[in-house]
Amino acid sequence: MLTVILLDCALEIVPSEISSFKDIQKQAGRKGKKPNEILLDQTYHGRAMTKLDKSDRRGRPDIIFHSLVTLLETPLCKEGLLRVYLHLQDKRVVEINPEVRLPRNYDRFVGLMEQLLIEKRVPVEGEPLLEITRRTLTDLLSKLKEEHSGTTTILAIEGGKRTGVQDFRDLLPDDASVPVVVGIGAFPHGDLSEDIKQLFDLHLELDREVMMAWHVCAEVLWIYSERIDVIRRRYS
Ligand SMILES: C[S@@+](CC[C@H](N)C(=O)[O-])C[C@H]1O[C@@H](n2cnc3c(N)ncnc32)[C@H](O)[C@@H]1O
Repeated sequence: MLTVILLDCALEIVPSEISSFKDIQKQAGRKGKKPNEILLDQTYHGRAMTKLDKSDRRGRPDIIFHSLVTLLETPLCKEGLLRVYLHLQDKRVVEINPEVRLPRNYDRFVGLMEQLLIEKRVPVEGEPLLEITRRTLTDLLSKLKEEHSGTTTILAIEGGKRTGVQDFRDLLPDDASVPVVVGIGAFPHGDLSEDIKQLFDLHLELDREVMMAWHVCAEVLWIYSERIDVIRRRYS
């Protein structure tokens, strides 16, 4: 079982400090919403965002979109061998039901995330497909480790142990019942905090240059899928 945690996701509702900015009011108006009902997005709110603390790591919902469409609905996911969580910059953790079919269209994805952040779950009634939990990242990792004593936790990070594809593959358990947790940053710039880094057993660098979060997601997903031979399982 592979668990991917997208860390410090650049996904949030427009904060009140900048909700009175004209650009933001206008964009919200075009969507028939209030400023505090729309996602913060550097593409549209770049000027207002200069007023925000740590603005260079916020307002990039597209990173979460590309990462999720890379991970979900893959053969590994269809086999029930993938779990995905979002860790938000306000420290809340979102649980994603692996059966969710995300919109293919980015604007519809944005609408879904707005609903999630406002209502705390999607859909509002019935079995949740996306839900903001009461867990912290520490709780989540402890729970995942408690489920299986052999759980390995890996952080994909620049400056970690230089790891080629073959070495990465060999580090992963070939027994699908042994869980592996991989943390990947889902923000555009800056570093992960020491508090987050120390929660993971291994720190691995997967290329000498910085990679897009969704490329790291793709590499992790497919190397793990190959390691446990998921496609052959699906034919047998
Ligand atoms: C665009 S980067 C975030 C930028 C940031 N400079 C950083 O150090 O995390 C997105 C995430 O992809 C992963 N990543 C990017 N390049 C990597 C690399 N060369 N090796 C391993 N993971 C990488 C990390 O988890 C990183 O947080």
